[in-house]
Amino acid sequence: MFQFDFGIEEDVEPSTQTVVAVPEVVQLEPFAELSVSRLLDALPPLISYSPLSIPLPSDRKNVTLARRDLFDARFQLISEGRDDDPSSETTAPTSALEFLDAPSDLVPGVYEGGLKTWECSLDLVGYLDGLKDSTNLSFSNKRILEVGCGTAIPSVYLLYSLFCAESKANTNLHFQDYNVSVLELITFPNIILAWYMSPASAEYRAAASDDPAEHPPADPILAGELPIIPSLKSAFTASLAKLAITLVFSSGSWESLTTHLDVKYDIVLTSETIYRTQALPALIHLLRQACADSNPLCLVAAKVLYFGVGGGVSEFIEALKSKIMVDKGCSGRVEPVWERKVGVGRKIMRIEWE
Ligand SMILES: C[S@@+](CC[C@H](N)C(=O)[O-])C[C@H]1O[C@@H](n2cnc3c(N)ncnc32)[C@H](O)[C@@H]1O
Repeated sequence: MFQFDFGIEEDVEPSTQTVVAVPEVVQLEPFAELSVSRLLDALPPLISYSPLSIPLPSDRKNVTLARRDLFDARFQLISEGRDDDPSSETTAPTSALEFLDAPSDLVPGVYEGGLKTWECSLDLVGYLDGLKDSTNLSFSNKRILEVGCGTAIPSVYLLYSLFCAESKANTNLHFQDYNVSVLELITFPNIILAWYMSPASAEYRAAASDDPAEHPPADPILAGELPIIPSLKSAFTASLAKLAITLVFSSGSWESLTTHLDVKYDIVLTSETIYRTQALPALIHLLRQACADSNPLCLVAAKVLYFGVGGGVSEFIEALKSKIMVDKGCSGRVEPVWERKVGVGRKIMRIEWE
């Protein structure tokens, strides 16, 4: 068994992360697109959440997002009785329960760690927030892709900003994760919470009954439970339409998404996805294919080194310049735009395609 031995902060992560031995032949998950209505149907009747406070470099000091509790996702799986039923159409939830309980954080080709928030995703929020202030970066009128989103904290932050702005955004946000269960159990509930905590849900909350159990305060600083009722689902989809926000969700391997990509993105984000060197060519190919031809913002947030699995920033930079990538027209240069040197180093790199 390999073992990561870097510490992860607060309840973002367990203190030690493990990756189980790589099977000889890994059959990678195929591409699948999940509609918003399917994800709404997969929501449980109640979501419990806690605040996730993200430090910002600006005067604002921090931003707080509501994030679904992991124990609540576990409870959903158990209460829906989605366990080892081989005839079940989705096999992912079975795995999800195992991975929620298991000590391993990554099982290559099976579960890639998306149920938990990894710390570089918080760095990405801080950096994007700074860019918004320093360069007037806008998330409106953009196509945005988060590769390997997991709990999707960077994209949820972008979405929360759009919900707070309350004006027509004309934004398309694509969330990619390896596992269907991650999108159903964590990514999508976090999106619902971002909407509920924002002014975009004000009309829904105002029309609601006075029962505080049905409508908890729209304050992400407070932990709580949000009932998922039909009127909430329709108010959410109505908000998306009103603000011209399109949400796209896809699961499966990076290879499979690359072959299905038919649009280019202005902003492409990824956090903590460069840990395994064997997967770097597929990741780089996807990032290249996904980026718009003109001035895309492509950001990769990562630890400098992933002990025990061999990946890290140097390996990523090397892969970007390798002959394989040059031959595929996917070579690029890295501009480090943010760095933390204390403890296990972390970086945010902007990729300039050649
Ligand atoms: C360690 S998690 C990081 C999750 C999230 N970005 C964060 O920072 O909290 C790695 C993510 O990359 C994705 N991933 C890893 N390898 C993949 C592969 N070969 N194909 C598709 N997705 C993959 C998984 O979906 C997983 O969510």
